[in-house]
Amino acid sequence: MSTTPETTAASQAVLTAPAIQARKDGEKICCVTAYDYPSGMIADAAGVDVVLVGDSLAMVVLGHEDTLSVTVDEMVHHTRAASRGVRRALLVADMPFMSFCTVERALETGGRLVAEGHARAVKLEGGAAVAPQIRALTEAGIPVMAHVGLTPQHVARFGGFKAQGKSAEAARALIDDALAVEEAGAFSVVLEAMPVECAALITESVSIPTIGIGAGNVTDGQILVFHDVLGLFDRFLPKFVRRYAELGAAGREAMAQYCDDVRRGRFPADKNTFYMPEDQVAQVRKIKVKKKK
Ligand code: KIV
Repeated sequence: MSTTPETTAASQAVLTAPAIQARKDGEKICCVTAYDYPSGMIADAAGVDVVLVGDSLAMVVLGHEDTLSVTVDEMVHHTRAASRGVRRALLVADMPFMSFCTVERALETGGRLVAEGHARAVKLEGGAAVAPQIRALTEAGIPVMAHVGLTPQHVARFGGFKAQGKSAEAARALIDDALAVEEAGAFSVVLEAMPVECAALITESVSIPTIGIGAGNVTDGQILVFHDVLGLFDRFLPKFVRRYAELGAAGREAMAQYCDDVRRGRFPADKNTFYMPEDQVAQVRKIKVKKKK
């Protein structure tokens, strides 16, 4: 493809929530999570459209069992760090568990993620039940990405990280949830871990983009967790993940090599070492050092 100044400008234009919303039925929307400056920078430089500071950071960065214990302060801290690495992509921050259980709390959390974290949109889990929060945030000027299906903040109610919408009745409920979040003003909706038939029905029913994770190849976009894409999270590998690199294994190998070099005296080498100017070497050798007893 030839690159004219217009196409270069268009491909580098900062992506906004309305620009992502306008991609319904258009070019697929590519999303990934990131949690700090380097991961934000890597995702952005690779041309990712939406960078989500997901509450999955509780598991893949902070080492918790699930996503429930990450705090608003931690989300603000990580969003702020990621924002320094993200130039073009839309930066979305997740609202953590119980931080949006009332409209007031939702406005407070959303306000902090935008004003202090520099997110340009927020994501929250839930369907019809959180429609008032979505409406209030949107009216306050904070674009909202919704999230239905396997919503990890409800893991206790689901009895584990289990796919949702597997029966016709369950699928109907998810469609209703997706319609409710659209009606409340969400600019897009994540569909997590559900049969492809259910994701296809939702994608046809709503006029906002659907972003799938474990929802088949029928959604308007896809999202994966940064550490899953790069092979940096080993605790489990969901069926819907494709690893594009094995950086965990490469990192362990590199660290073992470093330890070996230190132990065998091969690091630091000459080129990693500072030397004094010749005339100072003679002087420094004259310095008498008293050994401490
Ligand atoms: O927290 C997260 O990473 C998410 C995505 C997987 C959608 O919610």
